[in-house]
Amino acid sequence: MASGQLSRAEALACSGCRHACHVMLYSDTKTQLFGRIPIRHIILMQMRFDGLLGFPGGLVNPSKETLEAGLTRELSEELGVALPMSVEDHVDSCYAPASSPSSSTSSRLITHFYVKKMEEEQIREVERAAASTAKDHGHEVLGMVRVPLYTTKGGGGLSSFLSHSFIGNARSQLVDSLLHFNLIAPQELQKALTQSLK
Ligand code: APR
Ligand code: MG
Ligand code: MG
Repeated sequence: MASGQLSRAEALACSGCRHACHVMLYSDTKTQLFGRIPIRHIILMQMRFDGLLGFPGGLVNPSKETLEAGLTRELSEELGVALPMSVEDHVDSCYAPASSPSSSTSSRLITHFYVKKMEEEQIREVERAAASTAKDHGHEVLGMVRVPLYTTKGGGGLSSFLSHSFIGNARSQLVDSLLHFNLIAPQELQKALTQSLK
């Protein structure tokens, strides 16, 4: 386990902590941008009400619901779909960065991260529901966005996406997941990361 991370049991044992659960939903795809650049995977993030990019999910109260039930509830509000989440989808738990607005109050925030692979058609259905029936659409969630995994001739794509502002540790959750789930070649990711800092 990487430093700063907590096991699920350690995280739940923190009685004074607040908890938030977020998920990266993704699928494979054979579609191509401009008919020639492979898109490879559809990865969903969201533009939040605060102008920051993040993953769908939110605050959960483990004394009233399981982490997964809370995440499922948040997803129904933010995405407008019933998407039961399970313990197997859990990837890691860690303390939110000290600079996070939610960690400036007395109780520390622990963020739990999940990843779920879906079929392409299911992901498209989530996008349709998030833009139409979701309760939070236009309020807490300004819109869903896909992560561009490619680099265009002009150098745009993933590097430009990574240069935006992200909530909490959403950027590192994304970068770590791209590697961990083999969604991009490590050299390609490294190039985009270097380019995003310029
Ligand atoms: N990594 C780390 N922390 C995160 C991440 C992330 N990927 N995403 C969100 N957070 C932190 C943020 O600080 C955020 O305020 O977790 C907190 C809760 O997540 P949200 O998704 O914002 O919670 P949600 O329950 O959907 O919305 C509640 O309404 O009252 C406002 O500001 C309040 O953000 C809160 C929102
Ligand atoms: Mg919410
Ligand atoms: Mg939320």
